[in-house]
Amino acid sequence: MMRDTSATDARDEEARSILQRNDRGGYTIPTSGLYPYQWNWDSAFAAIGFAEFDMDRAWAEIETLFSGQWSNGMVPHILFHVEDEGYYPGPDVWQGIGPIPSSGISQPPVAATMARMIHAQDPDAGAHHIAALYEPMLRWHRWFMEWRLDRGAVCVTHPWEAGRDNAPDWDVGLAAIDPVGVGTYTRRDTSHVDSAMRPTKYDYDRYIWLVQRGVRLGWDEAAMLKDTPFRVADPTMTFILLRACRDLAVMGRDLGRDVSEIEGWIATLEAGAETLWNPALGCYDSRDAVAGTWSGAISNASFLNWYAGIDRSEVLPVLKTVLSQSKYGVPSLASSDPRFDAKRYWRGPVWGMMNLMIGTGLSEFGYSEGEDLRVLTGDLIAEHGFAEYFDPTDGAPAGGSTFTWTAAVWLGWASPNKTGA
Ligand code: SER
Repeated sequence: MMRDTSATDARDEEARSILQRNDRGGYTIPTSGLYPYQWNWDSAFAAIGFAEFDMDRAWAEIETLFSGQWSNGMVPHILFHVEDEGYYPGPDVWQGIGPIPSSGISQPPVAATMARMIHAQDPDAGAHHIAALYEPMLRWHRWFMEWRLDRGAVCVTHPWEAGRDNAPDWDVGLAAIDPVGVGTYTRRDTSHVDSAMRPTKYDYDRYIWLVQRGVRLGWDEAAMLKDTPFRVADPTMTFILLRACRDLAVMGRDLGRDVSEIEGWIATLEAGAETLWNPALGCYDSRDAVAGTWSGAISNASFLNWYAGIDRSEVLPVLKTVLSQSKYGVPSLASSDPRFDAKRYWRGPVWGMMNLMIGTGLSEFGYSEGEDLRVLTGDLIAEHGFAEYFDPTDGAPAGGSTFTWTAAVWLGWASPNKTGA
């Protein structure tokens, strides 16, 4: 069948223009209104979109992200470069302690992997960018290894840290919080997006309680670790950091550095990943490190093992079953789960950048499902636009629109023009 090249070209153009419209000078916002600041993993994905048409701008995206790195190595999940009333909780609530106003938690470390991908497209000019980013990336990964491990798996200390805000993975940890004293606050997200597509007030009270706890403890990691009610070892963080360490080690070797420290982290994380195998579920799962319970959720993070360089024979049949129940790729929660909610953020919807990571990993292991996922994601975006996320049953767009990472996933991976398919 002939593909419609003019429609694809028009979508490429639209994707480029979304990135340009969301560009605030050195960084992009995920989408105006709902998310008016720089988000950590959103920016790393944005960079692979920019790399398709403006390599300098791609590098700037990642470099601006690291301009907010804290002295302990942490790279915040939000950088509040320019204050905006349209978002809650803003810089006055978070009271981050870095060089520029920021949140106090991090986000999945995809930056090293995206930097390596961009470098492969820009081997000569990219070399000095990699040389400059290497130490900051190393310090960030070291911070995770120092503060976030439980039996070698990486924990999140706030649902926003995994980026999968209202996934069922956090239900046990959040239930352990009594948000007494959290006070009154006005959510802004539900003035931009239908509340049926967003976390509940029950969740938000606990999100804000955790932020207030961090502020009270001065964002001191050692103090926050003591008596915490919320600490969940999670496949998103564990697999993404493992992949990022593999990529960082390759970049380090190319730079002539001693990467034995990173090799040690890789071994630790490989062992840690196995502690996320839930035998009763037959899949990778989140483990509440405080309560010692499984979440019992087959999520899209459950299938990041290939991206992390781990092939496990039991996982592919589970993925095939999940894919057979979804029209456009891997839902954030398997539709057979009673907690599935097709439009509610991380309890059902499909996310383009999760499909990208899962698909990339599958293809690297030679599984045809990786290419299937790339094509499905291309179809989804072509048919339903550049939404934040999508209903997996019919592809209906959900959350924010004209979304940076969906545009970047299209340009850098899913567009038929990317491979000439
Ligand atoms: N995703 C969060 C929000 O909805 C923050 O990272 O505000």
